[in-house]
This record gives sequence, structure tokens and C-alpha cells, in this order.
Amino acid sequence: MLSTNVMLEPTESSASMWEQGVGDWASNEVRWLTCCRVFDETHDVKTFAFRTADGSPVRFEPGQFLTVSADIDGQQVQRCYTIASPPTRPYLVAITVKRVPGGVMSNWLHERMRSGMRLRAHGPAGAFTSTRAGAGKLLYLSAGSGITPLMSMTRASVDLGLNRDIVFVHSARTPADIVFRDELRRLAALAPGLRLLFVCEGHGDEHGWTGEARRLTLPMLMRQVPDFATREAFTCGPAGYRHAVREALREGGHDPARYHEESFDLSTMATAAAESKTVEVKAAEHASTFNVRLSKSGKTFPVQSAETLLAAARRAGVAIASSCSQGVCGTCKIRVLEGDVAMKHNGGIREREVQKGFRLLCCSRAQSDLVLDL
Ligand code: FES
Repeated sequence: MLSTNVMLEPTESSASMWEQGVGDWASNEVRWLTCCRVFDETHDVKTFAFRTADGSPVRFEPGQFLTVSADIDGQQVQRCYTIASPPTRPYLVAITVKRVPGGVMSNWLHERMRSGMRLRAHGPAGAFTSTRAGAGKLLYLSAGSGITPLMSMTRASVDLGLNRDIVFVHSARTPADIVFRDELRRLAALAPGLRLLFVCEGHGDEHGWTGEARRLTLPMLMRQVPDFATREAFTCGPAGYRHAVREALREGGHDPARYHEESFDLSTMATAAAESKTVEVKAAEHASTFNVRLSKSGKTFPVQSAETLLAAARRAGVAIASSCSQGVCGTCKIRVLEGDVAMKHNGGIREREVQKGFRLLCCSRAQSDLVLDL
């Protein structure tokens, strides 16, 4: 039982607590998870709680995500889902998934995943977390299922009795679409520093709705959270929502250096991946060719300086686990034993891992002949 009387500083102490064990389950390591519970959050959102197959605890930072994979209709499908449960309950990892029309994984999970079933997953990854934001005031802004990383952060903060000054602004289509609505209210009753603001586009069937019933705007933010410009802001939601929030905060005088957002968005990534492929094709005309050797198998293959190491490996028939292909999830992390690569990632690798020689192959390009630890 955690006592709310314990004075824990919400700064380095809590951040290092999460960091200690990060790496216990590396983001490029696959483990089996066993489903222990499935339950409805809203009419189209379910939570799936898992434990590791061997019962070991999972260490992660609140806000990180897992990459899960399943064989669906003969195809291996991978998707990244934020861990909605907090790291303070390490024997459980829960993902909260909205059923998306045509979404292969989300529909499969909703229709097929049951208690006792197993699922493969790569370890926790991602750098979207408020644990290193210092002791200042926080502003959480989420829309739809983008609430999950902020929920993990909030649950962890309340579990530890940190009583951080958090204003949590969540946007949904209607009150019935607010994920974790009752739980958030319970958490706010436990933690006086936590203030909630639900913003709905309309009241739906809830005619007694007294909350905001339109989209989030700067004037609304100024009225409801007058000190918003002094808060460290964390935003997660669809690309359009994030863009609107970013613009509103900027216009309202919020310091962009204190703004953080979860950039993980499959649709954005698909576009970015297509654009980067076009750039690769154009650059290939002026590319140098290097040689890659795999230290364990002895296999070699050529790579052009304009293409990613992941693309070259695939062309050579070398199987390397990957998911986002955008340097976010950390799945394709491999140690480079010899040679130089240029890497442009999106938060999927830590500085200390880079110092140890690890690189994300999906966003790394050869600058010389290479030897990979593979
Ligand atoms: Fe996600 Fe490389 S595949 S970081």
C-alpha cells in the first residue's frame, strides 16, 4: 500500500525510479504476454490487461508504448499501443484500444482477444513522459484514445501520492466517448492537485451535460486555465488536434520549449515513410555503396548511402524486426560494431544507448563499411 503522506519530490527521484530498470525488456526484444482481463471503457474502446508469460514485472516510464504483433489472416501485423497502466503496477501492462473501422489489429483485439490468450510484444519504447519535466505545473491535453499516455502518467502520480499540479484537459466527441471518465474523477478526488476539464463537441445522448460542448479553443483555455502559459504541456491525440493545440498554445504565449507531444501516429507515419522513400530514390542517383557484414552469421550485403540500413537488409533477405519505420518505436535497434552511420530518429532510442553503439536501422544510413552485431 502506498501512503499519500510520503513526501516524494516529483523530479529526479521519480524519474530515476522509472529509469533504473529500463532495458530489462528491451524495445527490440520480443516476449509473450498473457491476457488476464478485457473490459469495456466506452462503447468502442476496450482495455486489455496483460502479464508477462513468466510473471516477471515490466519496467517502463509512464507514457511509453509497446509494439504488439499477431498473426491475423495469415499476415503478421504489428501495431504500437501506449501502456495505459502505470509503472507503479509493474506486474501488469494494459493497453486501451479504440476499435477503428477497418483497423486490422484493433478489430482483431476487440473480437478475438480473451483472458488466457497470448500475444507477442516488443519491449517498452518512447520518450513522451512527464517524469523529467521537473517539479513545475503540468498541462495534459488529449483527444480520443490519445488519453492513454497521460492516463499512465496521472495514475502513476496519484499512486505515488506526488500530488502534482496537473490540469488535465481531455477532448471527446460526446460525453459517452470520454475514456476513463469515472476513474479520472475518482483520481481527482484523491489528488487535490489534479484538475479535470472535459471538452465535448456535443452532448450526444447526455442531455444533462454541463461541461464544455464545443471544440477546444484558445479563449476557452484562457478562461478555464488562466495560467496555461506557465505550465509544461504534454499533448497526445490525432494529428489535426495536435496541430490545433500547438497553434493555440503558441498564439497564447506558451513557450514551445515547454511543449511536448506524442508524434506517434500511424497515418502520419505512412505519409512520412512514403515521402522519405521518394527522397531515397532521388538521392540514390548520387549515392556511394558500402558493405555491411553481420558479425554472427557472417552474411554480407551492399547498402547505398542514400537508403536506410533496414531497407538494404530487407532487400538482402535479412529479417530484422521493425514496426514504425520512423525511428519512434525502437524495435529495429541493433548495435553497430564497426563503421559510421548517420541516424535521424524520432525518440526511439536513448542517448546512453547511442553511446553504447546502438542505432535504429530504419532511420540510419551508412557512411562507411559496417559491421552489425547480428
Ligand atoms: Fe520503429 Fe525502427 S522500426 S524505430
